[in-house]
Amino acid sequence: MSHDYGDDIYTEPADVDNDTLANLGPLARLAGRWRGTRGVDVNPKADGPETQAYLETIDLVPIDPQTNGPQLFYGLRYHQFVTKPGEVGAYHDQVGFWLWEPATGDIYQMLSIPRGQALLARGHAAPDATRFELVATRGSTENGIVSQPFLEAAFTTVEFRIVVTLLDGDRWMYDEDTVLQVRGQAEPFHHRDRSTLSRIGPAVPNPLARGG
Ligand code: HEM
Repeated sequence: MSHDYGDDIYTEPADVDNDTLANLGPLARLAGRWRGTRGVDVNPKADGPETQAYLETIDLVPIDPQTNGPQLFYGLRYHQFVTKPGEVGAYHDQVGFWLWEPATGDIYQMLSIPRGQALLARGHAAPDATRFELVATRGSTENGIVSQPFLEAAFTTVEFRIVVTLLDGDRWMYDEDTVLQVRGQAEPFHHRDRSTLSRIGPAVPNPLARGG
């Protein structure tokens, strides 16, 4: 979204509140530790799409307010750890940040996975929204996707889209679609991941709010 930050790109806003949990807009309800036991993954395999059930734990921890000159973000640092039922090893491992900019209503997800891939997805929502959607597109320098050379050549990731819905009863769900152009296939592959999370741990205040 375009927003006028003024001519002074260095001076930080005067009204920074140290309590991140009170300023997270639609991300506020995501803070804490979550468990998902009924995830469904559709992934690309040599002989076609594979559908796999999965379990996961997601930790979303409030970070201290982040300024970029006049710009102010409140956010969460996260770790998503996914396993197959009955296994302990990582089926999918992901870290990153969720950011909320109160001045614009913009939301960012910074996502990083150990395939050698990272992206910045962007969306927009009202502070009390219970559903928001973010998109990253390959080639964009503002909300783009970058992959190491093998992945870029063999499983080119052209788009990532995530819809988050906040549910009753301290639960939330995500539905994400990672669109891959797989070498040798004519049609794009929709690598879908869907899961509903239930709270297993409380929101923890950010370091500045708890005094260290
Ligand atoms: C719960 C979330 C996810 C799960 C469980 C998951 C799981 C998988 C699985 C099982 C494969 C097949 C290849 C393999 O067994 O290693 C795969 C491939 C892939 N995934 Fe995911 N994935 C998830 C989310 C994501 C996200 C968010 C991205 C990137 C935005 C991503 C990017 C890829 C790519 C590029 C491939 C193709 C490379 C390959 O097949 O080796 N995945 N994923």
